[in-house]
This record gives sequence, structure tokens and C-alpha cells, in this order.
Amino acid sequence: MGTTDSAIQPEKSIRRSPEAMGPDFAKMGNNLVTKFHVLMRISRTYDSKNVALSQFIQESLKTINEVINKEGSFALKIIRDDLYLNEQRLRYSVEGFTSFKYILNQWKKRFIGEVIFKEAADESTLRAFIYTLVELEEGREDNATLFNEKMGQQGIASIRVNALESFEGEDGVYTARKADIREVSKKIFFETIGTIKEVMTQIRGDQHADVRKLKRLVQKTIHLIMEDESILLGLATIKNYDEYTYNHSVNVSIYSLAIGRRLGFSRDTLTELGMTGLFHDVGKSMIPKEILNKPAALDQTEWVLMKKHPLMGVETVLNLKQLGEVNPKMVIGIFDHHLKYDLSGYPRLFQKKKVSLFGRILQVADAYDAMTTPRVYKKNPYRLDETLAIMLKDSGGHFDPTLLKIFIAIVSVYPIGSLVLLDTGELGIVYKPNPEPKWIERPQVILLSRDGKEEGTHQVIDLAEADGKGHFKWSIVKTLDPNQYNIDIAKYFL
Ligand SMILES: [Fe+2]
Ligand SMILES: [Fe+2]
Repeated sequence: MGTTDSAIQPEKSIRRSPEAMGPDFAKMGNNLVTKFHVLMRISRTYDSKNVALSQFIQESLKTINEVINKEGSFALKIIRDDLYLNEQRLRYSVEGFTSFKYILNQWKKRFIGEVIFKEAADESTLRAFIYTLVELEEGREDNATLFNEKMGQQGIASIRVNALESFEGEDGVYTARKADIREVSKKIFFETIGTIKEVMTQIRGDQHADVRKLKRLVQKTIHLIMEDESILLGLATIKNYDEYTYNHSVNVSIYSLAIGRRLGFSRDTLTELGMTGLFHDVGKSMIPKEILNKPAALDQTEWVLMKKHPLMGVETVLNLKQLGEVNPKMVIGIFDHHLKYDLSGYPRLFQKKKVSLFGRILQVADAYDAMTTPRVYKKNPYRLDETLAIMLKDSGGHFDPTLLKIFIAIVSVYPIGSLVLLDTGELGIVYKPNPEPKWIERPQVILLSRDGKEEGTHQVIDLAEADGKGHFKWSIVKTLDPNQYNIDIAKYFL
């Protein structure tokens, strides 16, 4: 905390544990963060006298003064990568995620670590606050002092800020934040499955499809992949048998994004890639369900129809006005996704061409997910590491060798979700890869009991951990087939 007289504490600062935080407080906090986010954003577009701003300022005042009425005053503070309202950590909500990120980013850039409202605000003080804040030059460490001086000059003493503090080694906070990201990841993952299902049903019924919602979800997924991609990769191992096409589309999108990120794609290109992943099998919405879910092998005519789904997907996407301008990368990517790297797949081409980059990424992501998912006609899918071995045999044939290498590095030798036997005789499920390439064989593992029965326990061990004599405590002996042990891997990622 700074020592200047600006480092004023709110009168009420009783430390309450996060568990004691009621749902109302959490909601109020999230509301406040959202309001600050929008205020900052729109104040960069309009000048401080603009009338259009008025209505939003009024709405924000309501939220701000509601907090002050309840709490007497408030301090919104950054500690590492979290926001605390009157010393209580605010958990991200799915809707609030973007606002949290925005506030953390913008305040940190300006070296502002805390904003204190000491009493109820009115329109003019709030306008002064927001414009003084956004006008601070980014990267200046003395911004907090400057801000307080400027507010003083305008005769406002009720709003003060403190400089950003640096925090090191606060693992407790870090872990709490990870837990939130896990929660948000789960919500976004399942919401995307639900939304792609809705959209494909709408397309099938010739109704208006809510494509914008999907796009927003893809953008959130990209945020989360940047934060901790192992969480989404873990969720992608949950294979939902009944909802194959939807679940598969989301998984392909996640795997594609993980590859695209390694290729250094911009956020915009990643968004296009994520959308292409979600839509790659959209052509299947034109194929009768009886054929899609047929438990036996397809006959000649059915197979001919099935092979048309990339082309039908292209047609669908071209007709989908809600997508806006036609995106050639997306259209070609969908066309290419079964073409194979050496062009031996379908649709058959009369003239040679090269498979597009999006198409080559999809080929890898699509094949991996399809091979590791149980299907009506193949109840026990390939083991994850087995799948990679099979794919490697087809490197240069079905798959672009470079992209396949990148993908194997992402899912690693022991992909997240693999069931492994340890040298202690215990069973484990691979939870998170080791970030050190030289320790690729030493991921984090969820420990199961010896007979694999106590599926309720979730102890995570780190295979890179050594005992006092420098010997590793656990090592992987081999991978096992979860179907033979009756272990439901998905449970451990929910
Ligand atoms: Fe396909
Ligand atoms: Fe597919």
C-alpha cells in the first residue's frame, strides 16, 4: 500500500472469507466490474460532454451507489490477476469474463491497482472519474498520484486510486484463479455444444441461425486457450456418445485452435479457424439421421451421400447470410477436410490442387477426435497414444507432417485423459502435460486407487517430483485401455 495520503482505506474493510460471500454480493461485484468496463470503453469513443453517454452513466451510477448503500464505501482492487471488492475476491462469471480481463488489462497498463469510492457519486463526479482515468498515459508509474491530483483540482475528494502493487509468490491466489478458469471453461464448452446443436437444427429447419452467439463463444474459447489450454483439451476427452456431431465439432474446434495458436495466428484468424472447426461437418445436417447414426456399415448409395457432406457444408455456409461476408478460408477449409494431404480423400478432384492450411489443420484435428471417440459401429475406440501412432504411420499421406508433429507436441506422448499404469502399481489419469519438453514423459496425473474403483478421489501428483535421493517418486510403465478397466475418464474432468 502506498504511503501518500491518497492511500485511503474504505471505512468498512472487514475481511470476509470468499465462502462467506453471498450470491448477492458476488452478483453486485460482477455488475460493478461490467459497468466499469463499458464506461471505460465508451468513454474512449465519446467525449465527456456527449449526451449519448448520459443514459449509461445513469445506469452505472445506480450500480455504484447500490454498492455504496450496502457497504458504506468500496474499494475495487487488483491483487495479481484477481479483482477484490472490499477485500473479497470476485469470481469470474461466464458473462463477466471479458469485463474482468478488460479492467485488469487497462488498469495494469496505467499502473492503477485500486479504485476507492468513499461516498455516493453523482453524474459529474463519475464523468470526471472515468475521463481522468482513461486519459492517463499508459506505462507511467506515477499515474495514481497524477490521478488524485487531477481529481483534487476538480474539487472531488470522494474518489481516489492507489498504485498497482506487485505481488510475488502468492500461490493461494493463483490456485483460486485457476479454479475459476476451470469453471468458466466448463460452462463455455457445454454452452458451445448446446449452441452448435441449436444452430445446426435451425439450419436443417431453414430457420434463422444464431451465428453471432457462436462467434462470441469462439472468442471466449480463444481467451481460455491462451490462459490454460490443458483445461479445454481435458474437456475434449469427454466423448458424448449421443451428441456425436455436436460434441465432435466443438472438440475439432478446440484441437484446431491449439494448433493455430502454435502457428502464431492472430486472434482474428483464430476466430475464423475456430468457427471453421465448429462448422466443418455442418453438411451433415443435410444427411438423414438414420444414415448418420446407422449402427451397421453404410451401403454404396449411403456412402456416396455421406461423402458429399464437405460439399454440402460449403453450400450451407455460402447460403448462411448471418455469417456475413463469405470467408474463403472457412469455405475452402470445409471443402478440404476429408481431402487428405496427398489428395487421395474426397471429394475427388479433377484438377490437382494443394490442400489449404485450414483444411490441413482440420484433417489432423478431425481424425484424432473421430478415432478416439466411441461410435455406434465401434464401441471401443483407439487408445489415445495408439491413435497418435496410427496417425504417424499416415504422416505425409493423410496428414501434413509438420502439423502432425505440432499436434503430437500439444497432446504429448501421453495425451490428457490417458489411463496409465505407474511403477508403484497404481493407476492414474493424465491430467496436464509437463511444460518442459525434456520431461514430456512426466505429466501431472490424477491418482486412482489400486483397483481403480474409488473414482471420487482427485489427488493430482506430479511425475516430475523426486524423493530425497533424487529418484522419481512415480513413473509411467504403460498406458491401459480404460474400457477394460471400466473407468469413466470423463468424470475426472467435470
Ligand atoms: Fe467430416
Ligand atoms: Fe468431422
